[in-house]
Amino acid sequence: MERRHVALVTGGGRGIGRAIALRAARAGAAVFVAARSQEACIEVVDEIVDGGGTAWPLYLDVADFGMFDEVLAEARELASAVGPIDWLVNNAGIAHSAPFLQHGRAGGEDLYQKHLDVNFHGPRRLIEALVPGMIERKYGRVVNVASSAGLQGYAYVAAYCASKHALVGYSTSAARELAKTGVTMNLVCPHYVDSPMTAASIERVVQKTQRSEADARAFFAAQNPGGSLVTEDEVAETVLELLTSDRNGAIAELVGGRATKPREETVRWR
Ligand SMILES: NC(=O)c1ccc[n+]([C@@H]2O[C@H](COP(=O)([O-])OP(=O)(O)OC[C@H]3O[C@@H](n4cnc5c(N)ncnc54)[C@H](OP(=O)(O)O)[C@@H]3O)[C@@H](O)[C@H]2O)c1
Repeated sequence: MERRHVALVTGGGRGIGRAIALRAARAGAAVFVAARSQEACIEVVDEIVDGGGTAWPLYLDVADFGMFDEVLAEARELASAVGPIDWLVNNAGIAHSAPFLQHGRAGGEDLYQKHLDVNFHGPRRLIEALVPGMIERKYGRVVNVASSAGLQGYAYVAAYCASKHALVGYSTSAARELAKTGVTMNLVCPHYVDSPMTAASIERVVQKTQRSEADARAFFAAQNPGGSLVTEDEVAETVLELLTSDRNGAIAELVGGRATKPREETVRWR
């Protein structure tokens, strides 16, 4: 009988992470839905369990490295009847905006450090905690959700871009070292996605520029090379494709345009 996978999806309580958790569960994996907001994680878990799947909520602050040992020990215990975590999806992320010269002291905190802690060191530390076991067992899949902001710059989000570039450089390097271990590491780099994070950006534009919500939304969609926002499900589908293949060191750049274009034109593989 084929072994059942156990997935850990960070930032699984809403947005892209929720779509990934639901997709992994539909593919038969038992899923840890991890984030800080436990009510959101529980809702996703309930949705999975109601659909006949297996899932657990997990309280995890990816920037609080000191809690990793305890949280992962709890996860191991919960999933002991199924197996070890063999799919890791580093999806949790934050994006704050400010002029680049003010990022270092916005609201009294260093936004560069904050973004690096959540968007880069969090995934890196989780990888350090889970990948050695995967290597030992000769099987594991890691997908890191970076961003087109890991491939190019955008105005007013220098800290976000720096942290995503760090994640891309780290992941493509680590993938080379993982070759032939049975463990793979890949990246998805979506352009603007129709998710709560983008909704918050749209809201900021509306407040700052007095544009209508529809105009602001069209502005973000027009930034995407495909001309429309990427959907959460599209990201989840690509993540699942990477979790279930032997591809290693790949970057899937999701450019948008799914409603009108064939999939090959909405995903650029690097
Ligand atoms: N939206 C886009 O346009 C877009 C484009 C490219 C890439 N991405 C990337 O895709 C990922 C998901 O984005 P999204 O649009 O779904 O964002 P979102 O709607 O804001 O969701 C972010 C998720 O990350 C979690 N999170 C944030 N800080 C965390 C922390 N310290 N520890 C644990 N979990 C944390 C949040 O839960 P809690 O706050 O409850 O912890 C939430 O579940 C991010 O890495 C983002 O950078 C997004």
